[in-house]
This record gives sequence, C-alpha cells and structure tokens, in this order.
Amino acid sequence: MIYENALELIGNTPVVKINHLVQTENSELYVKLEGFNPGGSSKDRVAKRIIEYAEKTGKLEANGTIVESSSGNLAIGLAMVAKMKGYKMICVVDPKISKVNLNLIKAFGAQVHMVDQSDEHGNYLKTRLATAQLLESSIEGAYWPNQYNNPENPKAYMHSLAREIYSDFQDTLDWIVCPVGTAGLITGVAAEMKKLNPSVKILAVDAVGSVIFGGKPGARRLLGIGNAIVPGNLDKSLYDRLSYVNDADAFFMTRELVLQEGLLVGGSSGATVCAALRLLEDLPKGQKVLAILPDRGDRYYSTIFSDEWMNQNEIRLPQSIYKSVSI
Ligand SMILES: Cc1ncc(COP(=O)(O)O)c(C=O)c1O
Repeated sequence: MIYENALELIGNTPVVKINHLVQTENSELYVKLEGFNPGGSSKDRVAKRIIEYAEKTGKLEANGTIVESSSGNLAIGLAMVAKMKGYKMICVVDPKISKVNLNLIKAFGAQVHMVDQSDEHGNYLKTRLATAQLLESSIEGAYWPNQYNNPENPKAYMHSLAREIYSDFQDTLDWIVCPVGTAGLITGVAAEMKKLNPSVKILAVDAVGSVIFGGKPGARRLLGIGNAIVPGNLDKSLYDRLSYVNDADAFFMTRELVLQEGLLVGGSSGATVCAALRLLEDLPKGQKVLAILPDRGDRYYSTIFSDEWMNQNEIRLPQSIYKSVSI
C-alpha cells in the first residue's frame, strides 16, 4: 500500500490473537497493537487530532509553538506531527523519562524542557503541568494542548480506534480491557463502543500507586499507565470493572508476551494483558476479550528488558501471574 505521508500511517493498527498465554477454556483474547502507529504508540492518534483541532479553531497559528507535558509517547507523537506541519515543539519532561524516549523526541526535532522538582512520592506531574502552563503564557504564539483536560484526547479514540474495533469485531466482543493514564483512551473507546455495542463491558486497568480511581499514592516504575492526579477526561460511569497491576507483574507479562507470543510491547501493555488474563480466569467459559496495547517494546530495552535495571530498582519478577497476581 502506498501512502502520501507519515500522518496517513496513523490508525488502522493490527489485531492479533493470543495463543499461548490464555489458559481459560474456549475463551479468546485478542490484542490491538497500537505500537504499529508511526510514532510507536496510540498517542499519535491524539497528537494528530489535537493539532488539527487547534488549527481549525485558531488556537494554533502558522509558525506557532506547541508546549506539552508528557512522559514520552504523546511528546513523540506531537513532535512528529508538529515537525510535519511546520510548528515548533517544546516537550516538558522529567528525570524518569527513558534515554530512548528523550533521544526520540530530539530526533523528531523537538526541544526538551526538563523539570527537577518531584512530590513526596517521586512524581513530577504537578511540576510538569505548572511548567507547561508557564511556558504557554510566556512564549508568544504558544499553545498548550493539556492532554489531561482536553476533550479532543478521548475524541481521537472515539473517531478512530473504537470504530476500527467495531469494524473488526462488530457485536461479538464481551469485554474490552483499557489501560488508564490520562483516561483519553478508555473514555473515548468506552463511550463509542457502548453506543455501537451496548452489551460490551469495559475493564479499566490502573497501576498500583496511582490515585486515578482513589488508590493510595506510591512509587511506580510503569510509564503511561497510572497517574498522580485524577485526569479531567476520566468518566467513571463508562467502565464496569477496575483492576490494579503492580510493576513486577506488569513487567513479567511484558517479557512473557515476547517469549510466548512474539509480541514486543511496552510495560503498560504487559499490565493490560495481565489484567485481561485475570479477568478471563474470573469469567464464565467462552468469552471474547480484546486488550488495547498502547506502545512498542523497543523503547524499553534498557529498562523492562534489562536484568541490570530490574536489579537496580529491586524489582523481583514473579514465577507466574496466574493465581499469584498481587492486587
Ligand atoms: C504507554 C502508555 N500506556 C498507557 C496509555 C493510556 O492511555 P491514556 O493516557 O489515554 O489513558 C498510553 C496512551 O497512549 C500509553 O502510551
């Protein structure tokens, strides 16, 4: 297939069946691989939608500057879309960002603004948001999309991801499993899918140590999933169940996905599959479940796939997540 430019590669990501990890009779688990987007994650959809909406509404003018706080994936998506459309991009990041993501953001031509003040749990989000706001107000022609409270974030998923899912599965899915970070993905997918297939149920997946659903704040190594604030895009009426996954279980499953299924995906994908498998153990036989996996694994070579990094961070992988998963 021939495309006119990289922006046309966003969306229409593949779905693959999980063949070895599912231990539940007659049940089927599928995964949608958002890492096949050109910037490597589902955030490419958000980046394109947010920038095009800002252009349409006059919030972003020619030669303008986009400022955003992101731990990686949205920054990479925005940097890519900004470059292709001729805007400057400043990414507000923190010391937890991986070297790979930092270099990727720079490779797409964006400027990096590193914050250094964390809260008592080691989270930098509040400082990052305050910095993005400050940069927007001090730079002429700057626009801060603020993915946490921007309705175009969930809309990006409503108008693309959810419709792709419906076109692949029609009314046959029993559950969709969604990781939650800024809540754009879950809110968009759930709102649209419940309209298209009212019997589908949604499992929200959060990280242990995240406060999104009222959990106790704590240190987390998982990126993209979990949050130190409750995002404005969260709509609690749209999910049917909630599952927490800790770093060790998520990273174990991330590695198992490569070994057993040949799927090189990121840590929040491991967390999502972990929650999906626990869900299947709990459901009657013969369920059809789809898990949405947000990004590719290659950006985690020096972290989740490194034994040295695991040891340095004192993360002990479990032997199995079946029955032994800690909640
Ligand atoms: C690595 C990762 N995890 C989780 C998510 C969850 O998405 P959201 O921020 O929309 O809740 C994303 C979104 O793209 C992601 O890139």
